[in-house]
Amino acid sequence: MPRQLFVTTALPYANGPFHIGHIMEYIQADTWVRFQRLRGAEVQFVCADDAHGAPIMIAAEKAGQTPQQFVAAIAAGRRRYLDGFHIAFDHWHSTDAPENHALAREIYLALRKNELIDTRVVEQFFDPDKGMFLPDRFIKGECPNCGAPDQYGDNCEVCGAVYAPTDLKHPYSALSGATPVLRSSEHFFFRLSDPRCVEFLESWTQDGRLQPEVANKVREWFKRDASGQPGLGDWDISREAPYFGIEIPDAPGKYFYVWLDAPVGYLAALKSRLDTLGIDFERYLAQPELEQVHFIGKDIVTFHTLFWPAMLKFSGRKTPDRIHVHGFLTVNDGEKMSKSRGTGLSPLRYLELGLDPEWLRYYLAAKLNARVEDIDFNPDDFAARVNSDLVGKYVNIASRAAGFLHQRFGGRLSADLGVEGRALLDGLRAHAETVARLYEDREFGKAVREVMALADRVNGYVDQHKPWELAKQPGMDAALHDVCSVCIEAFRLLTIYLKPVLPALAAQVETFLRIEPLQWADHQRALGGHGIGAYRHLMQRVDAKRLQALFEAPPEPDAAAVATPPGGEPIAAEIGVDAFFQADLRIARIVGAEPVAGSTKLLRLTLDVGEGRHRNVFSGIAANFRPEQLVGRLTVMVANLAPRKMKFGLSEGMVLAASHADEKSQPGVYLLEPGPGAVPGMRVR
Ligand code: MSP
Ligand code: ZN
Repeated sequence: MPRQLFVTTALPYANGPFHIGHIMEYIQADTWVRFQRLRGAEVQFVCADDAHGAPIMIAAEKAGQTPQQFVAAIAAGRRRYLDGFHIAFDHWHSTDAPENHALAREIYLALRKNELIDTRVVEQFFDPDKGMFLPDRFIKGECPNCGAPDQYGDNCEVCGAVYAPTDLKHPYSALSGATPVLRSSEHFFFRLSDPRCVEFLESWTQDGRLQPEVANKVREWFKRDASGQPGLGDWDISREAPYFGIEIPDAPGKYFYVWLDAPVGYLAALKSRLDTLGIDFERYLAQPELEQVHFIGKDIVTFHTLFWPAMLKFSGRKTPDRIHVHGFLTVNDGEKMSKSRGTGLSPLRYLELGLDPEWLRYYLAAKLNARVEDIDFNPDDFAARVNSDLVGKYVNIASRAAGFLHQRFGGRLSADLGVEGRALLDGLRAHAETVARLYEDREFGKAVREVMALADRVNGYVDQHKPWELAKQPGMDAALHDVCSVCIEAFRLLTIYLKPVLPALAAQVETFLRIEPLQWADHQRALGGHGIGAYRHLMQRVDAKRLQALFEAPPEPDAAAVATPPGGEPIAAEIGVDAFFQADLRIARIVGAEPVAGSTKLLRLTLDVGEGRHRNVFSGIAANFRPEQLVGRLTVMVANLAPRKMKFGLSEGMVLAASHADEKSQPGVYLLEPGPGAVPGMRVR
């Protein structure tokens, strides 16, 4: 029975595009998942947009959109990043999806049935202009401690004081500027202070499933105060309308606080994924051997080690087996990174500059470990590690051997390899379990160092046997053949060990070696006598100049710009230039135009594309042009579109025009026209 794993990363807020910190988390989790799959595990690896909450509702309003439209636009941009960095989630979902509404309510009702839900009246600031309760972040005023103006409702950025929004002097609403008034309303609480919860969490958090430093931190939260009160307070899980979220059952106008339904999104994403596979969700979760693993950052530990396991436990569900907490990624020595905007290091810009995504995967792997430590992205360090280790030590092994094998031995590996060669390879194979354990424990830095030490051994062997000299000496063919074959076999072994980090490079190697996709267990096999393909250059070195350009990057577009895409629709998925050239675009002269009887939308156009005959094209532009406005004009047409039979006759192509996606609110159709001098028949490329 293969190992069964349900793995997630944290669900990113759908209030902006990914920043480099998100990408780091996904690369860490993806590397671990790929390792598990190479070992034969069955994994469901899912994620979703965290769609709900007041900040997203307010951002959507600013962008003139519904929250649903706003988060849909953010979601549409996710693919480019994930594909770009080879992050292979099985499914990307949303916390606003129906599965999540249903599961969040179900879990809440179970907690209520268990008498773990209370109500209490809470007094909070209310914006009388906006007619809504204000989240702390949207209340500003003078710091009660130092008097600094324009400070947020929870802490002062000038003197560092922490306080309640009601302590602010001269408070005002950051939304409307109005002076907020105190108003009370009924809130729902999850009774975490209940002895059942405290007892459960004290053991769940200390039974070895958490990293030691995380378990220690959590223990502090349980400390009882002088009066013997447990340190765990009840958790306010409700918010008042208007709120973008999930309505609480039997409580009209009240919504779950976003952090209640966000982790439920893990289950909703899983359910949606299993539905497409035809696997029963509850049965899947009931498998005793199933391991549930969440990868998260250090800032959201409370939610994942207290609230989430307690929600699951007391609604009768499986609790997580592991919470893997990582530190933060900083850039250029801890240059401050805003949680929502990231740093100057834009992941999209990285891809657009043509920097290899696997350089970043390798670099991050080399820096990551199992502890909650911040790691710093440093461009010099990045270039050094990629150039001297990844390319210099590992990739070079293949290029040193492949040429001779092809020129002299028809690309066929020798079967014997010699005593020394076999010893070297056995030595490499003997490290498979050590490297595997390091991946399993998320000690990626150590795993990569281990592999590089093995690569050093191989290069030492090459330097000692000097194939370039063997090649010149008569009678040394067999020795040359063995040395080069050993190199290729060693390269294959190292490729297995690096495959979780470098999936695309490994795929290239598999093509080059003419072998099936490598699995971890393939380290036990040998390629003796096998014929390999021609060597193609596998990976470039980092060019310091191109890397520098990354830091001169224009800033990420802000959330509002992303949510209102150009022309009213997101840019379509990327295509290769070949796909583009399949469309044959030509300059055409409109030599005739007339209305179509029986259609208010269509005009019948007669086009000259310089072919010595005319084409008949129906175009849906009757609302925008009168026929006489068109006759004589040049435009661009798709000349190799399959002819389409319409009610009114055959249409032999399409003319190109620009319009906004929302034609109702932004009407207007603009025919494409070439610059002066173009003649019918010229290709547009
Ligand atoms: N929406 C919540 C998570 C809900 S999970 C049920 C959230 N979203 S977030 O977009 O702010 O952060 C998503 C993840 O990115 C978190 O795990 C967070 O720790 C991580 N990171 C945010 N900034 C980061 C770095 N600078 N470095 C590494 N990870 C970082 O919190
Ligand atoms: Zn202050």
